[in-house]
Amino acid sequence: MLTLALSFAALVCAVAARPSLNYLESHTAENESEEVRSAAIKRLLEVFGMEDPPAIHGHKQPPQYMLDLYNTVADVDGVTKDPYLLEGNTVRSFFDRLRSEQVEFRFNLSTVARTEKILTAELHLFKLRPQATSTFNRHHFCQVSVYQVLDTSKSNNTLGKKLLSSRLIPVHSTGWEVFTITQAVRSWMVDEGNNLGLHVVVQTLGGSKMDLKLIRFASGRNHHQSKQPMLVLFTDDGRRSSAPEITDPNDFAATSSLPHAPMSGPPSRSARSLDYSDEDGMSMPCQRLPLYVDFEEIGWSGWIVSPRGYNAYHCKGSCSFPLGQNMRPTNHATVQSIINALKLIKGIETPCCVPDKLFSINLLYFDDDENVVLKQYSDMVAGSCGCH
Ligand SMILES: *[C@@H]1O[C@H](CO)[C@@H](O)[C@H](O)[C@H]1NC(C)=O
Ligand SMILES: *[C@@H]1O[C@H](CO)[C@@H](O)[C@H](O)[C@H]1NC(C)=O
Ligand SMILES: *[C@@H]1O[C@H](CO)[C@@H](O)[C@H](O)[C@H]1NC(C)=O
Repeated sequence: MLTLALSFAALVCAVAARPSLNYLESHTAENESEEVRSAAIKRLLEVFGMEDPPAIHGHKQPPQYMLDLYNTVADVDGVTKDPYLLEGNTVRSFFDRLRSEQVEFRFNLSTVARTEKILTAELHLFKLRPQATSTFNRHHFCQVSVYQVLDTSKSNNTLGKKLLSSRLIPVHSTGWEVFTITQAVRSWMVDEGNNLGLHVVVQTLGGSKMDLKLIRFASGRNHHQSKQPMLVLFTDDGRRSSAPEITDPNDFAATSSLPHAPMSGPPSRSARSLDYSDEDGMSMPCQRLPLYVDFEEIGWSGWIVSPRGYNAYHCKGSCSFPLGQNMRPTNHATVQSIINALKLIKGIETPCCVPDKLFSINLLYFDDDENVVLKQYSDMVAGSCGCH
């Protein structure tokens, strides 16, 4: 029974380490490389949760909010700093499509997948400085209310609107104001026809209408792009792996400082140049080596805002007896390496040198509709390698 389990593990290890030779041999080199390339790029897109690369229309400047968010959750390489910072794994931003003179907004959410779970939805409005003509005013605060516009023919709500969020805001303040409108967006996801937009009402504390010269919000029509009204959705596409991620950043540092053999070859050794020759791989102990995935080389730099690429790392080297603690062997791997060294049973290879910790990365990109999206992908970077 033990023999069977061990030889099965050895078989899996050997198969995983090499490309399928049968497939390669049945094709001519020329056709094979084109086919493999397009199949590989298609599969890579699937890893990033897409069927086709988003269309590129010559993009606008991404919203500052999304850039700041990206820099908060990810380091320069796109690696997640703190996996618990975001509740879900996706943040989507949308610009207002109505571009009305009034404080009315509508957002086209057609790029949100039906399966995506809406965790939080926020309306971001930029409050402008009050106009100079109304310098003297007895009001210090105003009541700002966000309503969902309803179809009166469909519901018994004769008002035609539903209050979503309301807050007191200092009259003389300037900057971003955020209103939570999650329930409305959930109802829009159930039925797109419900999406008749949002309406904002500004009142005095006494409840009377307020001078709109005094309280002004930037609109998509008249103000700088950086102040445009924006909808921000925090969602989850359910793709996050079930395996808990390593959260302690010191852990990362510790594993990075494991003894490394001097790097061989150029620093950005791409997957293409990887060889599978045994002499090279088996001479050094199992360790983590760089593997830079360059989005420009893949042809994705047009729609990915950040990062330009990332270091996925790869694991390489021998796992032969004796396995030191720095090789982080499982008990199973230790036993297998011993059986291999004693040559007690034929055909038992040494254990495999594989990633034993994986980190997620973040991508900031433009979708098909030119909305900027932040998405987190789990298990993308080998944090450390071990003999398994
Ligand atoms: C490549 O494949 C096409 C059909 O898919 C075939 O017509 C062509 O002859 C092949 N080229 C080579 C070099 O085998
Ligand atoms: C939303 O955007 C999609 C894709 O750009 C478009 O097909 C659809 O008509 C838009 N919906 C509305 C209500 O404008
Ligand atoms: C409106 O109210 C009536 C009576 O209260 C009810 O029968 C009807 O189903 C309601 N319609 C909708 C769309 O909620």
